[in-house]
Amino acid sequence: MYKDGYIRTTLCCLAVMALVARNHAVVIDIKTKGATGDGNTDDGPAIMSAWKEACDHGGSSPSTVLIPPGLYKTHSIVLSGPCKGPIELHATGATLKAPPELAKFNTTSWILIKSVNRFTLTGGTFDGQGHHTWNSTKCHDSLMTCEIPVNLRLSHTKNSLFRDFTSANSKNFHIALWGCDNSSFVNITISAPGDSVNTDGIHIARLNGLNITNSTIKTGDDCISFGDGSKNVRIEKVTCGPGHGISIGSLGKFPNEQPLQGVWVKNCTITGTNNGVRIKSWPASYPGIASDIHFEDIIMNKVGNPILIDQEYCPHDTCKKHVPSKVKLSNVSFRKIRGTSTTKVAMKFTCSPEAPCDNVEVADINLTFHGPGGHGAASSMCLHVKPKVAGHNVPEVCPGGTH
Ligand SMILES: *[C@@H]1O[C@H](CO)[C@@H](O)[C@H](O)[C@H]1NC(C)=O
Ligand SMILES: *[C@@H]1O[C@H](CO)[C@@H](O)[C@H](O)[C@H]1NC(C)=O
Ligand SMILES: *[C@@H]1O[C@H](CO)[C@@H](O)[C@H](O)[C@H]1NC(C)=O
Ligand SMILES: *[C@@H]1O[C@H](CO)[C@@H](O)[C@H](O)[C@H]1NC(C)=O
Ligand SMILES: *[C@@H]1O[C@H](CO)[C@@H](O)[C@H](O)[C@H]1NC(C)=O
Ligand SMILES: *[C@@H]1O[C@H](CO)[C@@H](O)[C@H](O)[C@H]1NC(C)=O
Ligand SMILES: *[C@@H]1O[C@H](CO)[C@@H](O)[C@H](O)[C@H]1NC(C)=O
Ligand SMILES: *[C@@H]1O[C@H](CO)[C@@H](O)[C@H](O)[C@H]1NC(C)=O
Ligand SMILES: *[C@@H]1O[C@H](CO)[C@@H](O)[C@H](O)[C@H]1NC(C)=O
Repeated sequence: MYKDGYIRTTLCCLAVMALVARNHAVVIDIKTKGATGDGNTDDGPAIMSAWKEACDHGGSSPSTVLIPPGLYKTHSIVLSGPCKGPIELHATGATLKAPPELAKFNTTSWILIKSVNRFTLTGGTFDGQGHHTWNSTKCHDSLMTCEIPVNLRLSHTKNSLFRDFTSANSKNFHIALWGCDNSSFVNITISAPGDSVNTDGIHIARLNGLNITNSTIKTGDDCISFGDGSKNVRIEKVTCGPGHGISIGSLGKFPNEQPLQGVWVKNCTITGTNNGVRIKSWPASYPGIASDIHFEDIIMNKVGNPILIDQEYCPHDTCKKHVPSKVKLSNVSFRKIRGTSTTKVAMKFTCSPEAPCDNVEVADINLTFHGPGGHGAASSMCLHVKPKVAGHNVPEVCPGGTH
């Protein structure tokens, strides 16, 4: 009894203290800055004005920009730091809509958050209204230069948390990260139709330390894609599909790419995508390094190419396919991956003759073929790699040798 009471009193005090601490922090409602929430007027200037005030406020507890529940329309906005203290954008119950017309954009981002330390995004639906751009888009996932806005571009926004929000129908990638060290995404939803163009869920590049957990990603392109310089990224309890699956690369397209090192994809489910987990690099490439990449506990439901290393990645036949890739892959593992493949070759490793894959481990795979042509056994194929095989694998890993 005494103990219970003591704990209760302590909790109560902590709660009061937390409340007091919170009262010192500033909360700026965008409506006080002129946001109408009529779904028609551009509320972007009000959001930026609230941001500026919160950003300049400072203090040890986060300053908050509050977007109250409702429907807001906004053109491109830029939320920049550095701020004087931690800052939160709280949008639970709010829906923000981008103008559908591309002509209304003169940048490659709809919402750009840059150079902020200790940022938190909580809640909200960010709808890029991309339906009208997908069919007219000339961008392919091989050409990352297209001038079409990304829903949420996060640049050098470090030590941050992004949670409980939805990104829908982006005109281009949904979320693009660059230099966002030590950050997490938790419980987010990304949603666009399977036939939407170039709508990658999350694109990661040049950062160290990122966790993505408890999230659902449905898109027309890669679920999560990795560019060079991605380090220490953990993806757990994510469901993908439709889309193109989880993809490391393509690497080697540009000179001076940074090593990609440390990717763990665990406890994920991938459904109805045209690739599962893959690593790809361009032929005739610049040199590069990708190592320490691990896939474990993954369920594949009717996935094309569930397990794939493709070092001859050459979409639209725009490259010298017979000049080997110079990207070196090492310390890669595929463990406990089970389910169904819509392609006969469920496990395919096409490594580079110039830089053969080193230390690739395969264990406890159980993939069967469920394709348009019927059901049955799947197969595997290996080129320029000698996988270390453990556990029980269906299909057998490279029974015909490795060349
Ligand atoms: C883009 O448009 C905004 C207003 O919508 C303007 O403030 C900005 O200067 C423009 N930027 C460029 C690069 O034209
Ligand atoms: C885009 O093109 C596809 C195939 O041609 C068509 O089915 C779809 O309705 C089009 N979408 C829009 C929004 O025009
Ligand atoms: C990572 O971010 C968290 C949350 O903002 C912070 O508490 C922690 O100190 C950061 N770690 C490093 C190494 O900066
Ligand atoms: C996850 O996010 C949704 C909003 O998309 C929210 O309703 C739900 O409470 C969140 N779940 C957790 C465990 O925080
Ligand atoms: C990501 O998760 C790992 C393992 O759970 C943890 O050690 C690391 O601190 C987390 N990183 C961030 C940025 O939260
Ligand atoms: C993740 O989801 C599980 C249930 O699906 C829940 O128990 C857990 O609290 C969630 N974690 C976070 C950080 O939201
Ligand atoms: C993920 O982990 C949970 C419990 O931690 C388990 O119930 C579930 O089957 C796992 N899913 C996959 C795809 O491994
Ligand atoms: C691969 O792993 C081995 C042993 O764990 C380690 O010595 C080696 O440095 C790793 N290679 C790379 C490129 O990280
Ligand atoms: C492989 O999965 C099938 C069903 O998906 C199951 O019947 C079979 O026992 C599994 N084999 C192994 C070795 O786990």
